[in-house]
Amino acid sequence: MICLGIETTAHTFGIGIVTDKKKVLANIKDSYTTKKGGMIPVKAGEHHVEVCDKVLAQALEKANIKLKDVDLISFSQGPGMGHCLRIGAFFARSLALKLKKPLIGINHCIAHLSIGTMLTQAKDPVLLYVSGANTQVIAYEGKKYRIFGETLDIGIGNFLDSFARYLELGFPGGPKLSQLAEKGEKMIELPYTVKGMDVSFGGLLTNLKQKHQQGIKKEDLAYSLQETAFAMLLEVAERALAHCNKKELLLGGGVACNTRLQEMAKEMCKARGAKCFTVANEFNVDNGAMIAWQGILQYSSGQETKIKDSNILPYERTDQVKVTWI
Ligand code: ATP
Ligand code: FE2
Repeated sequence: MICLGIETTAHTFGIGIVTDKKKVLANIKDSYTTKKGGMIPVKAGEHHVEVCDKVLAQALEKANIKLKDVDLISFSQGPGMGHCLRIGAFFARSLALKLKKPLIGINHCIAHLSIGTMLTQAKDPVLLYVSGANTQVIAYEGKKYRIFGETLDIGIGNFLDSFARYLELGFPGGPKLSQLAEKGEKMIELPYTVKGMDVSFGGLLTNLKQKHQQGIKKEDLAYSLQETAFAMLLEVAERALAHCNKKELLLGGGVACNTRLQEMAKEMCKARGAKCFTVANEFNVDNGAMIAWQGILQYSSGQETKIKDSNILPYERTDQVKVTWI
């Protein structure tokens, strides 16, 4: 079985083509970026409309298949930005109707976890899902994917992007701050906000701006913010490992590309006898392959989304998803 998965929760328009034998035939994306300033949702949606046909053609070419060889169409139904989700859902519906193939709507967060278990030896991990909009600690418990901890305000990626935008580094800011951090020499004390299993970054962002106005070097701020924010994330991830009595940590989401975060995660896991799993960057950032693989899992276990039920779900939570594939 070949599934074509469409990802459009935010800035990325991605198409992945994956087989039920876990083979990724193609994983093509085109992301909306800016040189200065942040992302405007309407503009991201327009970007997706512009690139969708081109990305589809590239994916089919890479996979070396024809559209008629596709058995199943999956798309990210939520959570995400309405302007962006709508384009993907429309594109998916059109393809499914044209090809007369089944359609399946996917929860984006769960797809991040499933692609991790497909690509690694992880069986039942705690996922530290760190992206632009999302910062969540997710694990399978009691027949559902549950969120054990999350950000109380902005996502870690949005936090990094906001501070980078403030420093006029452009979007996405995570990689730019990471480069700056390598030149940092001094650890500056910053607010550390962990509440139970949750984290919050708003206060840290304000504090960083104040410190920058006071003349503290941006390299030192970038270094210190990574050390502080990542320690917060790993503290809640460790608590979830202990709480769920699990022995595997999986990193996912765009911020999981950060090598310092990966290093700190490995250290934490080693100290408590757990295993740490990471995937290649193309599967960390938003991608169509994870949507395609999740489509195969759900369709193979009897799920299908009828056109009338294929409306977008911008606020869908992981624990609202019926898990039939485990
Ligand atoms: P989602 O819709 O899942 O919330 P998203 O649309 O923000 O995600 P992702 O591609 O998962 O998309 O993540 C993008 C985020 O990852 C951006 O905030 C970006 O700054 C951050 N990022 C990418 N690479 C790095 C890096 N090396 N270090 C830190 N952050 C990074
Ligand atoms: Fe994501």
